[in-house]
Amino acid sequence: MYKTKIAGVGKFIPEKVVTNKDLEQYMETSDQWIRERTGIEERHWLKRGEDTSSTMAAKAAKDAIKMAGIEPEDVDFIIFATLSPDYFFPGNGVMLQRHLGITKTEIPALDIRNQCSGFVYGLEVADQFIKTGKYKNILLVGAEYHSGGMDISTRGRGISVLFGDGAGAVILQATEEEGKGILVTHIHSDGSQAEILSAKNPGMHGGYYDEEASEGGYDTNSDHPFVLVTEKMLNESLIYPFMEGQAVFKTAVKKFPEVIRKALATSGYDTKDVNLVIPHQANLRISQFVQKILRLRDDQMFNNIQKYGNTTAASIPIALTEAIEQGKVKDGDLLVIAAFGSGFTWGSAVIRW
Ligand code: COA
Repeated sequence: MYKTKIAGVGKFIPEKVVTNKDLEQYMETSDQWIRERTGIEERHWLKRGEDTSSTMAAKAAKDAIKMAGIEPEDVDFIIFATLSPDYFFPGNGVMLQRHLGITKTEIPALDIRNQCSGFVYGLEVADQFIKTGKYKNILLVGAEYHSGGMDISTRGRGISVLFGDGAGAVILQATEEEGKGILVTHIHSDGSQAEILSAKNPGMHGGYYDEEASEGGYDTNSDHPFVLVTEKMLNESLIYPFMEGQAVFKTAVKKFPEVIRKALATSGYDTKDVNLVIPHQANLRISQFVQKILRLRDDQMFNNIQKYGNTTAASIPIALTEAIEQGKVKDGDLLVIAAFGSGFTWGSAVIRW
């Protein structure tokens, strides 16, 4: 069996910078509040009509393809992780295929809906196909257009200040180099608290999970079959993401260390062997907590949430690309990536670079 290596990386960040101060024009918030609780200083938001999550992904993918020394036509499988796709359906995988101009090859395109863990989920899926030799050049991307779907008013401030737009991509290939490549991956989920961090509408639940259906934006007395978006949802802003921030924080600081320890234990390493941990950039305070629990030095932990906010499925490939650009990933280094997010879903991987 082969091992899987990351042969190319790429990222795309929209040009428009939105500082914490800029957010004050939309909502009651302050630079101090955001910085103290999240470490975020600024994020990038798309201008409407400029790009989408799939077009940003194409830009990141082109760089990854170039770095891997292949042509777009050589990609034989696309895996796309996002929670902010262009359409309800079809998924972003086929959109990306079209943007890259590789529809003639008729390769498969898979869409992953695991939110902040989407990239790690995609990595585990890709790893299985590369190891068995089924595919040779898998394009895995994470991309998010969050700013197009958040409540940018005081009502939504607990969520909207956290998130930014962007895309990251990798090309995965087989390697026979002794000891190198993806050593282990672990992915997990627990749906018992699925709504703690969720965007239920638009959706086809029709009020099924709501104690009082009207709370979810439906009229229980109506037998009209249409459930996707109701007037009440629009009027009462029920179409935006919802998060119980403190509950998410508490679970994240438990699951991140747990899944990193598991990754190291199964690959036979210890935290002191790790050159760099690249966590999903959820909140700087979460990453600092994880760093403390695992007793990692500052130089073993990569953080860039200060500049980009939380870019969900895009955050790890963006961070990996940036770490490489900054010379922080060297040949032979031991990397750990880890993610946690809505679902809850979480996962990790150990990679010998
Ligand atoms: N600016 C100013 N005040 C804000 C605010 C903002 N952007 N957002 C919320 N507040 C207010 C609240 O309304 C509340 O006011 P009140 O006490 O008058 O009711 C107060 O600040 C405290 O809110 P709370 O939600 O308890 O704050 P917190 O200390 O838990 O911090 C988060 C909120 C979101 C920063 C924090 O819970 C968090 O980071 N959680 C994890 C989120 C995460 O990582 N999600 C992604 C996982 S992948």
